[in-house]
Amino acid sequence: MSNILCVYYSRTGRTEALMQEIAQQLGDCELVKLTDGINRAGLFGWLRSGMDAMARHIPAVEKPETKLPLSQYDLVIIGTPVWAGRCSSPVRSFLLQFGEELKETAYVITRGCDVRYEEVFSQMDLYVRRPHTKALTIRPGTVGVDFWKEEFLKAVRSAEKKEEEQGDA
Ligand SMILES: Cc1cc2nc3c(=O)[nH]c(=O)nc-3n(C[C@H](O)[C@H](O)[C@H](O)COP(=O)(O)O)c2cc1C
Repeated sequence: MSNILCVYYSRTGRTEALMQEIAQQLGDCELVKLTDGINRAGLFGWLRSGMDAMARHIPAVEKPETKLPLSQYDLVIIGTPVWAGRCSSPVRSFLLQFGEELKETAYVITRGCDVRYEEVFSQMDLYVRRPHTKALTIRPGTVGVDFWKEEFLKAVRSAEKKEEEQGDA
């Protein structure tokens, strides 16, 4: 069984709920939440978050406490809400600080409108050693969410299975 870490930021709980489901369906894999110590609640928090995203501000995000060093996970699944067409500032900060340590990444984004924002994946790739291998873009509460989530999980499980078979060979 490969080591998978799920790491995410969530301001209002939508990305959190999705990442909790993903972690649970991947056999209760390790799940950690990023925090930047900034109060992003309410209208003021919304405005601040928008300005941070547009200015590509890098808030201080502490290294999350994980069971293994980040470099030892076979896959790190990173969840973020879309902010002003970009990944959230705390996730940008995490990627900037620790992205080079990650062996392999997959991205999960949640968004509030119908645009898929696939360009966010390439933005996130700027901070990691290798481009991501899997990605999911979801507008929570809309038709098709379960289908796309299942497709993403299938891709992760099938890559895991392949690695195990190669390991056994
Ligand atoms: C500051 C800010 C900017 C946002 N910009 C976008 C955007 O450009 N496009 C979009 O579809 N949703 C946008 N949203 C909506 C969130 O991406 C969406 O509601 C997301 O699912 C929230 O996830 P969370 O509950 O985990 O924080 C924005 C939300 C915030 C707070």
